[in-house]
Amino acid sequence: MTTKLGILISGSGTNLQSIINSIKRGSLKADIGVVISNVENAYGLIRAKKEDIPTYFVDHRKYKSRKDHEAKLIEILQDYGVDIVILAGYMRVITDYFISQYPNKILNIHPAILPSFKGVDAQKQAVEYGVKLSGATVHFVDEKVDHGPIIIQGATIVNEKDTREDLANRILKIEHRIFPQAISWLVEGRIQINGNKTYIKDKKDKNLAEISDLHPCIINPPLEEGF
Ligand code: GAR
Repeated sequence: MTTKLGILISGSGTNLQSIINSIKRGSLKADIGVVISNVENAYGLIRAKKEDIPTYFVDHRKYKSRKDHEAKLIEILQDYGVDIVILAGYMRVITDYFISQYPNKILNIHPAILPSFKGVDAQKQAVEYGVKLSGATVHFVDEKVDHGPIIIQGATIVNEKDTREDLANRILKIEHRIFPQAISWLVEGRIQINGNKTYIKDKKDKNLAEISDLHPCIINPPLEEGF
């Protein structure tokens, strides 16, 4: 049976769109069962509706506790037979209770190279800190915030004149590529978790990261001739 994804969002849903596009292209072999937002006017809900994906707005402010809100989310996810939960720009911390319902089946994307710049507005944090490289991370969700075994990361440069928006847009382009890839690895059962580390098996069961020495190196500012 096709793996069912449940996608939680809070905003514009460009990551959701990249997942939809990967499914349509046939590179990600999964279905989206349901999209849930905690923000009523999140544009991601419109993206989902355009694709005839069931959508729900579940307002966290209407629940007495985090757990009550999460119980509602879990009820919906279960109704739609969701196997894997995807946090695609979902701006709420989830609790141990939620995590215990989907052990090693919840993925998050964070707009920084973890463990740098955890928490809110990682892109702004990176610009203000003055780092020369930043990027995005897809990881399993565990009980700590922006923490859990890392599956894939992508890096980009940070320019001196970058605004928070410039960097956020550059990082989003990476997110849209690495998130569907990570989801696909999980769907295909190719991720092995060992403590806080993950290994991605290639199609012949070898460690994907070890089979290529072609990885490029990003250096910013660029080296001058002779170095
Ligand atoms: C993305 O940049 C994502 O990494 C970030 O929110 C944005 C959502 O964009 N998530 C977090 O900061 C979670 N801590 P999108 O709604 O267009 O996919």
